Amino acid sequence: MIETIATRPYDDQKPGTSGLRKKVPHFKQPHYVHNFLQATFDTVGRGDLETLVIGGDGRYFNRDVVAIAIRMAAANGYGRVIVGQGGILSTPAASNLIRKRGAAGGIILSASHNPGGPNGDFGIKYNIENGGPAPERITSAIYEKTRSIERFRIFSAPAPEFDAVGEHRLGDMVVEVVDPVSDYADLMEELFDFPKIRALIDGGFTLRFDAMHAVTGPYATEILENRLGAAKGSVVNAVPMEDFGGGHPDPNAVHAANLIAAMMSEDGPDFGAASDGDGDRNLIVGKGIVVTPSDSLAVLAANAHLAPAYRQGIAGVARSMPTSQAVDRVADKLGIKTFETPTGWKYFGNLLDAGKVTICGEESAGTGSDHVREKDGVWAVLLWLNILAERRESVRGIVEGHWSEFGRTFYQRHDFEEVDSDKAEGLMESLRDRLASMAGQRFGSLVVSEADDFSYKDPIDGSVATGQGVRIVFSGGGRIVFRLSGTGTAGATLRVYIERYESNPDRHGDAPGEALAELISIADSVGEIRRRTGRTEPDVIT
Ligand code: G6P
Ligand code: ZN
Repeated sequence: MIETIATRPYDDQKPGTSGLRKKVPHFKQPHYVHNFLQATFDTVGRGDLETLVIGGDGRYFNRDVVAIAIRMAAANGYGRVIVGQGGILSTPAASNLIRKRGAAGGIILSASHNPGGPNGDFGIKYNIENGGPAPERITSAIYEKTRSIERFRIFSAPAPEFDAVGEHRLGDMVVEVVDPVSDYADLMEELFDFPKIRALIDGGFTLRFDAMHAVTGPYATEILENRLGAAKGSVVNAVPMEDFGGGHPDPNAVHAANLIAAMMSEDGPDFGAASDGDGDRNLIVGKGIVVTPSDSLAVLAANAHLAPAYRQGIAGVARSMPTSQAVDRVADKLGIKTFETPTGWKYFGNLLDAGKVTICGEESAGTGSDHVREKDGVWAVLLWLNILAERRESVRGIVEGHWSEFGRTFYQRHDFEEVDSDKAEGLMESLRDRLASMAGQRFGSLVVSEADDFSYKDPIDGSVATGQGVRIVFSGGGRIVFRLSGTGTAGATLRVYIERYESNPDRHGDAPGEALAELISIADSVGEIRRRTGRTEPDVIT
């Protein structure tokens, strides 16, 4: 039976960079989940017997919300829901299922790389029929609806069990529970040369994939160990856990320190990688080298043609504005276009749909292609492996060779976390106020050539996004970008992105901290970071 239940709006259900993210106790407030889901269903208005994909990264509260989503989908007129077994679907696998099964959309439950558990983070995101995150116009319409919602619809019977593959019914709706891995693994096998990668591994090439007790464990085990023949145990922390084993499933130098340490040792594996909570991010580590996401994007763009799916070449590349400009140099050489978008994977969707770009990436460890409409951690790992299998060089050799060919873009991101929101807003506002007078100003040995507040006009649908980050460009190509994170759940996170291009090969081995020292100190003075936030050091440097 369908019940209509009265509710009251919450005023804080505005989706951020990637859906609605809050702490679990916040989500557990009465009807908090229901309100957001109903507002989503009302906005997309797609109940008409269509198909909805439901799944998440398996974190604490995932199962409860999967069950609620199934019952609400049944009450909102969907004909079928496709649910990952155990409520599990990595974000790219969910994107693939939406596309492959012609679904109207999907509900993806994740707070990505943020910690989980009863006091950890949770998130709900709606993806549209192309498999990608809902664009701004949809997320703002959802937000508007949450502000005035008065009732939601839910099926009174409990949701069927979803721990075993099979079909059930809830009212008129079919609940199809699927293996979360197989379709995705098949897609990877179509894109990449598995026999070649297998031959590389059979020849003694060793690897380690750290799934961080998050969603990619079963995906990586099936693909790397079962299908590609990597030794058992090559995938570590492979069992997904509700609290990620107490860890922080963010594949960066801090949280993937064990992997990096293993890769720095002489007798470590040849290739190391990690992914995040929901499987869309990636970290690539070679023997003695951590590849920055911006460099990884550039290397992948330059070598993609070595994998079967991209043999014809790539149509164009896109990167978020704060991502380093290393990939732009590759695109120039290939004679293809680079699109510069605001932070957030959703901005790539239209470009991918229109065939303008094939490969996209962000400094925040996301890389992907037109095979789905999300960034994809395991895909990035496989493209690297395919390239390594073709070139038979080390990761380090490939990256250093890339720098010799294109020059090196030194890059760092400095994060100042849990800054008082007013202070962070004040800092950004003050920068914006000073933009007009900045060009021509000298800081140390550098002169500002351009300064603006980034805005983006989508070339396909003409929509405009403003206030996407302050960019200060210096003559000679150095650049500092300031923006506030859209994914934090406590206070504000100030991100400062610093880069400098170096063409001189004798300098390519310099430490980034030194190569960027002058810009780092300019960032503090021009951004008034210390003065306004009291912080002398960033919390994290990536
Ligand atoms: C999520 C989004 C990415 C974005 C990242 C950082 O992972 O999917 O597209 O780059 O968050 O966003 P933030 O607003 O925290 O810098
Ligand atoms: Zn993620």
